[in-house]
Amino acid sequence: MSTNITWHAGLTRKERSELRKQKGCTVWFTGLSASGKSTIAIALEQHLLHQGLACYRLDGDNVRFGLNKDLGFSPKDREENIRRIAEVAKLFADSTTIALTSFISPYKADRQLARELHADTKNTDSPLPFIEVFIDIPVEEAEKRDPKGLYKKARAGEIKEFTGISAPYEAPEKPEIHIHSEKTSVEEAVRIITKYLDEQGLLK
Ligand code: PPS
Repeated sequence: MSTNITWHAGLTRKERSELRKQKGCTVWFTGLSASGKSTIAIALEQHLLHQGLACYRLDGDNVRFGLNKDLGFSPKDREENIRRIAEVAKLFADSTTIALTSFISPYKADRQLARELHADTKNTDSPLPFIEVFIDIPVEEAEKRDPKGLYKKARAGEIKEFTGISAPYEAPEKPEIHIHSEKTSVEEAVRIITKYLDEQGLLK
């Protein structure tokens, strides 16, 4: 627990946004392993960068190589994984970057915490937009895809607490964007998300 600390106010986000000519936000992808969240997030990142927008993607597997390498897949560890990612995404968004996060984030309460962290205005001038994107796929379809062979290992009991097989996935009830990835192409998914961001005034 940190004690004797003081928040140092500097530039406001409004000032940063005006200088960088971009507003920040977090686009929070959630969905089963092999649902397509990383593929869509990568394509979206490419698209936004081509538009000259600052954008950065945080990805489940990759972040677990560094920042979160001490965490496993128990409910407690997943909670801490998501809490740290939410704090990091919030920093990116606060810097006026579009943060894309691509994590299973299976628990509603953890995603809600991420949302609340972005809404918190204690040390800032305005809440940060948080856009939850549910990449929805039936578990049978994700299991058929199984690009990393993880579902097979989970069925064989070689991976414990595997989301969708031996650990829960709590689907979002009211995500800002709901994409059925077995019926939607990657290009179409990028188009849907970009349109939403544009309508919210987040692309200028
Ligand atoms: S979580 O639930 O949000 O904390 O998970 P995340 O950080 O996104 O990591 C998911 C990736 O870890 C691999 N993996 C597992 N996933 C789910 N359950 C278990 N037990 C597990 N073990 C390893 C897997 O590659 C996930 O990546 P994606 O891209 O989702 O397939």
